Amino acid sequence: MRKQIVAGNWKMNNDYVASEQLVSKLLEQYTESETEVIIAPPFTSLFCSSNLLKSSRINVAAQNMHYAENGAYTGEISSGMLKSIGVDTVILGHSERRAYFNETDALLAKKVDAALKNNMRIIFCFGEELLDRKSGNEEVIVEGQIKNALFHLPASAWTNIVLAYEPVWAIGTGETASPEQAQHMHAFIRKTIENKYSSDLSADVSILYGGSVKPANAKEIFSKEDVDGGLIGGAALDVTQFTAIINAF
Ligand code: 13P
Repeated sequence: MRKQIVAGNWKMNNDYVASEQLVSKLLEQYTESETEVIIAPPFTSLFCSSNLLKSSRINVAAQNMHYAENGAYTGEISSGMLKSIGVDTVILGHSERRAYFNETDALLAKKVDAALKNNMRIIFCFGEELLDRKSGNEEVIVEGQIKNALFHLPASAWTNIVLAYEPVWAIGTGETASPEQAQHMHAFIRKTIENKYSSDLSADVSILYGGSVKPANAKEIFSKEDVDGGLIGGAALDVTQFTAIINAF
């Protein structure tokens, strides 16, 4: 059975003090449910967040990692470093990493392998740009991103993969994919995985939607059959909005 997940990607927001405040507030307002809740603060706030959340059911994820275990990679962080502070989930392939830091499918495949080797869970992001959608190429693009970074994996690795479909045109723009557009793409993604692996495997993969999810639209998006939750940006920085989104399930 696949999990329902709501994950908050803080991006490059909140210093150490602001992070402690946000996490404390989240702990006050959060009520446990079937839905798994994850927050992804910046690197400098991971340790304090994971400590504060240690005895709660809220999990902490990193927003990125390097594929090497250690070495001369100035400014980078490895999976082992993340695990040493209790972080065992990592977001990979976010469109901002692809666009601003030139992360290619080939690089992401290396990061995926490194994370899995260290028993980390991956929230793997992908999604088409506006031009791709306008020209009707969204499925080709999405299929390519998934194939190139994930289809070399054995079926057994997929228990540690969560997918996040984030159409680039909907990120931080206030424009959301309609619930029907999201469902259509999520069903396509599940079919793509089924064709490569099996229907049992694809039925068990959680596929999150990301892109301007707010309390006002979360319920309708999450009600779609193949949408198993959300990857939330802006609204995750506001505890009231974030908890309202969690409760939308
Ligand atoms: P917004 O919710 O701000 O559109 O961001 C989505 C996102 O990029 C989450 O990773």
